[in-house]
Amino acid sequence: MSFESLGLAPFLLRALAEQGYETPTPIQQQAIPLALAGHDLLAGAQTGTGKTAAFGLPLLQHLGTAPQKVSGPRKPRALVLAPTRELATQVHDSLRGYSKYLRIPSAVVYGGVGMGNQLDALRRGVDLVIACPGRLIDHIERRSIDLSGIEILVLDEADRMLDMGFLPSIKRILAKLPKQNRQTLLFSATFPESIKQLAMEFMRNPREVQVTPQNTVAETIAHRVHPVDAARKRELLLHLLGQDTRVQTLVFAKTKHGSDKLATHLEKAGIRAAAIHGNKSQSQRLRALGDFKSGKVNVLVATDIAARGIDIDQLPRVINYDLPMVAEDYVHRIGRTGRNGANGEALSLVSQDDAKLLRQIVRLLGRDMEIRDLPGFEPQVPIRWGNSAPGKAEQPGGQRPPRKPGGGRGRRPHGGGEGQAHAHAGNRAGNRGGNGRGNRAPAAATHAQQRNQQRNGGGPRRDANR
Ligand SMILES: Nc1ncnc2c1ncn2[C@@H]1O[C@H](COP(=O)(O)OP(=O)(O)OP(=O)(O)O)[C@@H](O)[C@H]1O
Ligand SMILES: [Mg+2]
Repeated sequence: MSFESLGLAPFLLRALAEQGYETPTPIQQQAIPLALAGHDLLAGAQTGTGKTAAFGLPLLQHLGTAPQKVSGPRKPRALVLAPTRELATQVHDSLRGYSKYLRIPSAVVYGGVGMGNQLDALRRGVDLVIACPGRLIDHIERRSIDLSGIEILVLDEADRMLDMGFLPSIKRILAKLPKQNRQTLLFSATFPESIKQLAMEFMRNPREVQVTPQNTVAETIAHRVHPVDAARKRELLLHLLGQDTRVQTLVFAKTKHGSDKLATHLEKAGIRAAAIHGNKSQSQRLRALGDFKSGKVNVLVATDIAARGIDIDQLPRVINYDLPMVAEDYVHRIGRTGRNGANGEALSLVSQDDAKLLRQIVRLLGRDMEIRDLPGFEPQVPIRWGNSAPGKAEQPGGQRPPRKPGGGRGRRPHGGGEGQAHAHAGNRAGNRGGNGRGNRAPAAATHAQQRNQQRNGGGPRRDANR
């Protein structure tokens, strides 16, 4: 299938060809014709499979070919909401690239920078706005933006945009948008059922596109768990990074402070590292990501700020130093590698403290995960992985015996080495065939549990991107 056959306009086809896009990806093949036909969409596809173009191309085609619906002065006609400044900028850059041959005036709107440039752009008049919710609300309050002419709304990372951290802001923004004649496009690699139901409240008869079973990891990512005592995680991280310090590695840590400490520790050990998180200034954030993309630093230590959407060309490895609090974020974090057909490796350092989070991740994925002890780092504290009943004697190291090869989807090399096991989904149904189907209910329940955990533990996630 070609991009031509999807019904895209020549001004887009020319730009795509120049960027080396030859064949539309499956999500592009399925979503673009439906979006061009004006349908609302709930679209799910794995990380790194081209969702930006899947919503961006029909959106640009609409702006480039259909006249503005409301009369009067130029008002924004399309709005894309994204959870982080870095993602908003990236989506803006991608859409500018796709629309190179038909200039569509646009603005990117996010916090942490002065208002001046954004106000100037909005005053001049734009068709397209890419925004983080917090700063967009600031503009709404100052009346520097009028959203009454929006014809297309896109929520990129839609499940994140509708989780409880962002939902109040999204509701305020929705209240300013036209209800009639608006097309709404929701895209993500993960879609909890609860979020889909919520989305129905502001969508019109949406079509659902799900390219691969939902909440699944891209086939190109080899991911596994390395058990370790909590006190030895740093040592293990240094060991893994030290094997070849040139391998670009994105390391996820739980907290802003923890990210800083870890980056400093790595620097002291002679590894070129930077940290990115919500307490850094926008210029520091930009520099850290830029230095990592250019290879000036080899390790970027990040909070979940870098978990979603960020496209780093050919990133070979992601390491979860801490597991994410929300299982869906595991899929997004490790999805920074193995993008667009490239291979990638994702490792998670898991101690007894993380066992519960790991169980939730395994349940979400609906299939086993490979667990591999690393010689010299075997945990002293046994880890309770999965469905072993409390009090029941566990295997040495707390692990279950290896499963027979072929027990899962068979897409990852299991190596057959010593110390391998699998973390189980915790419900037998989830392990059957391991394709994630038939495991929706537990996944939804897990999401609710995780939200509670957030509320009770670290508090609701805040929009660090106003
Ligand atoms: N049809 C295509 N041909 C070649 N490259 C493509 C095509 N579509 C997208 N790409 C490239 O693939 C990479 C991943 O695309 P994109 O960032 O849109 O993925 P995504 O599905 O949004 O991932 P995530 O879930 O992480 O946000 C980008 O570098 C993009 O330029
Ligand atoms: Mg994306």
